[in-house]
Amino acid sequence: MHGRTAGLGPSPGPVLAGETTVRHPEPSFGFPVADWSENSLGGNGIRSAVRISTSPFQSRFLEVLMSHEVNSVAVIGAGTMGSGIALIAATSGIDAFQVDVSPEQLERAKGYHAKVLARNVEKERMTEGEMVAALARITYVDSMDAAKSADWAVEAATENPEIKAKLFATMRATFPDHAVLATNTSSISITQIATATGDAADRVVGMHFFNPVPVMKLVEVIKGLATSDETVARTVALAERMGKTPIPANDRAGFVSNRVLMPLINEAFCAWMEGVAEPEAIDEIMKLGCNFPMGPLRLADFIGLDVCHDIMMVLYRELGDQKFFPCPLLRQLVTAGRLGDKSGQGVYDHSR
Ligand code: CAA
Repeated sequence: MHGRTAGLGPSPGPVLAGETTVRHPEPSFGFPVADWSENSLGGNGIRSAVRISTSPFQSRFLEVLMSHEVNSVAVIGAGTMGSGIALIAATSGIDAFQVDVSPEQLERAKGYHAKVLARNVEKERMTEGEMVAALARITYVDSMDAAKSADWAVEAATENPEIKAKLFATMRATFPDHAVLATNTSSISITQIATATGDAADRVVGMHFFNPVPVMKLVEVIKGLATSDETVARTVALAERMGKTPIPANDRAGFVSNRVLMPLINEAFCAWMEGVAEPEAIDEIMKLGCNFPMGPLRLADFIGLDVCHDIMMVLYRELGDQKFFPCPLLRQLVTAGRLGDKSGQGVYDHSR
């Protein structure tokens, strides 16, 4: 029995099929990409993007998708996000190159893949044979060159514009001309990243996964200024094939997810700093009162306080609104090296 796949079993297909609410895009090859493109810089771009259409574009999308079948994906970066992306590619039947210059990081990714897949077998979400097949689909390599046959590249490296610019210039030179060059950035402008690829900017797209990748259903698909409709359509199709629910957003700082999430997290820090309540109480209130799976301060530790801080600074700089400026207490914790789960201490003590 496969039952609940948690994104690790076979793709469950379009999750939103049959939904009629205007809050979501239509599922398979679903949202009206042409409308979105026309309005991508306009104030109502998002509204257009989520309008349900009767899919007059569907056959064109199918044509495009069939002409560029994705057999293999190169995932650049083997950290938390990159290792999750390679894993769901493999469990969706796609060959994955896990690329990282650090042998330790590749080893960690390998261990993570084995652990999650073994858990899936234990939970009867997949058979032992499926686990072995998924593991065999992942090749661990230390250079992009070793992955150059991939028909898709997704970058999940450090959240630093200079590093991404270098990586995207190399990706442009390495992967075939039909390959989409996607980035998992959580806040850096897709339009900016695309400038490093010269005439391939139409193939650069945001493919924003969420942590833990095998569990979280969303992929935020972000269209930069030069991203083609074809690239967006192919990204939506690949995300669906990976068992995810792709939802479009325009290229504004923080897109939708972090523009909404980060001020919430920031406010939780301010409430703590002002003595409104202790962290445990703030988190319990949001869990029990708002049905959050984890409270905002616990989530900040999970994401990384430095990552939250950096995203808030991008929002602050790009959107120019004081409300995005990181709370002094958050800044202080980051300065002290209390970065959350990864450093053993953040808002909470994770050392035990
Ligand atoms: N990889 C794979 N599977 C994982 C996992 C991981 N890293 N972490 C948890 N799971 C699985 C567990 O194995 C478990 O599955 P089974 O028991 O069915 O085998 C299931 O998820 C539930 O895990 P737990 O029982 O350990 O704990 P939980 O019920 O508290 O769930 C959680 C853990 C899924 C992380 C949940 O707390 C949650 O959803 N938290 C919110 C996560 C979130 O908001 N993520 C987005 C962060 S923002 C971001 O990523 C983008 C950005 O740009 C900053």
